Amino acid sequence: MNESLVKSRAFINGQWVKTDKRFRVDDPFSQELIVEVSDCGEKEAHAAIDAAHAAFQSWSKTTAQERSNKLLAWYDLIIKNLDDLAEILTTEQGKPLKEAKGEIQYGANYIKWFAEEALRVDGDIIPSPDGNQQIHVIKKPVGVVGIITPWNFPQAMIARKVAPALAAGCTVVIKPAAETPLSALAMAELAQQAGIPDGVINLVPTSEASVIGEALTSSFKVRKISFTGSTKVGKILMSQAAENVQRVTMELGGNAPFIVFEDADIDSAVDGIMASKFRNSGQTCVCANRVFIHESIYHEIVDKLVNKVEALQTGSGLEDDVSITPLINQAGIDKVKRLVQSAKDGGAKVLIGGELSDKHNQIFEPTIMTDVQFDMDIACEEIFGPVLSLIPFSSEESVVEQANATKAGLAAYVYTDDRHRIKRLSEQIESGMIGFNEGIISNHMAPFGGVKESGMGREGSKYGISDYLDIKYLCIN
Ligand code: SIN
Repeated sequence: MNESLVKSRAFINGQWVKTDKRFRVDDPFSQELIVEVSDCGEKEAHAAIDAAHAAFQSWSKTTAQERSNKLLAWYDLIIKNLDDLAEILTTEQGKPLKEAKGEIQYGANYIKWFAEEALRVDGDIIPSPDGNQQIHVIKKPVGVVGIITPWNFPQAMIARKVAPALAAGCTVVIKPAAETPLSALAMAELAQQAGIPDGVINLVPTSEASVIGEALTSSFKVRKISFTGSTKVGKILMSQAAENVQRVTMELGGNAPFIVFEDADIDSAVDGIMASKFRNSGQTCVCANRVFIHESIYHEIVDKLVNKVEALQTGSGLEDDVSITPLINQAGIDKVKRLVQSAKDGGAKVLIGGELSDKHNQIFEPTIMTDVQFDMDIACEEIFGPVLSLIPFSSEESVVEQANATKAGLAAYVYTDDRHRIKRLSEQIESGMIGFNEGIISNHMAPFGGVKESGMGREGSKYGISDYLDIKYLCIN
């Protein structure tokens, strides 16, 4: 591991700041300590907010071209250090190195994309109703942004939020997840090397997320909160943010239905299920959470899935050819165990897996469960583990009703060869994103985000920068 990228202090106003308290960051595979990291509290959060607020006065006045150049320099350094960043990511988060490399590239793509979008923040000139004035529309950065990111994509979620914020002219205070602060800190180090000025990016690792969340939401200097994580925490942050009328972007939990119709290409549906479900060992918000299979092809698909799942290798993310790695922590393991047990109690069957690996007590075996009912806990809660819940269905009408019978609405997947059905389901499925005949839908050029309790706002794409901009109307006589 490139030790110069392994940082253990908070990053405030361009300085690496030591705190009295520290917390452990452990490797989820070896369970050994990687490093102890500064444990920030209210004092550091307010110092970071003040630094971001002061830096906003100058950063917001730089030209779009200057901000674009800095973001591109950051992108270049991330790509140059891709292997080292991926190793840090795998060591603290656990995912297979190949996926970690994919994540670093995925995150970097957002930075390059928003470096380009910085140059396209156009206004408008609109005629007035009586023709005596001109209506000018300009766009201004919202101000300091509080960014709170999850452990499942510790690099890409930071890139996806920080890049549009900086492109728009905002400055940021980031609180990374306690499990995975090292990827975030390494990104801050490279941002500094790229010449992003002091105070524009500040980073406060902590073991007490709520303390930093409260500091960010209680400060009027912070004008926006961008959060990726659970719906439960998102609701708390939204209610706190209401106090200062902070804008919010919320990427919250999902419960993705994955529907395979009788006319689908079966092999590509099976590949899609595998890719969607087992990426990051099932720990993504867009993972297939409920797989609905038409009853006429149910057994054929189950047999094919069993063959594929049996071939999955478990182990350390640093080993070659491993695709299922440890879950992030004990709470994650307990949740998966509880959901599997309650589905079994309700009559579902475990075809393969169903328990912790006997080789490693943090790895949950890749699992297939059949005879799952759509109203069981395992089909109503986000599993966040490598468990496939298979549910047979008989008609399009009933499956759409079941797919929509959830408060979540992040991602959905549909495999069918019928273009009329694609058109119908595009309208009927209540979800911010739908993959038709595709199991992996995330990329920097597409708008990522949900409906219903999966959140609000969109990240990535040409829409992703607007969440960081205020529209200002000038009436010019
Ligand atoms: C997430 O799980 O929160 C993000 C997944 C993605 O970006 O594909």
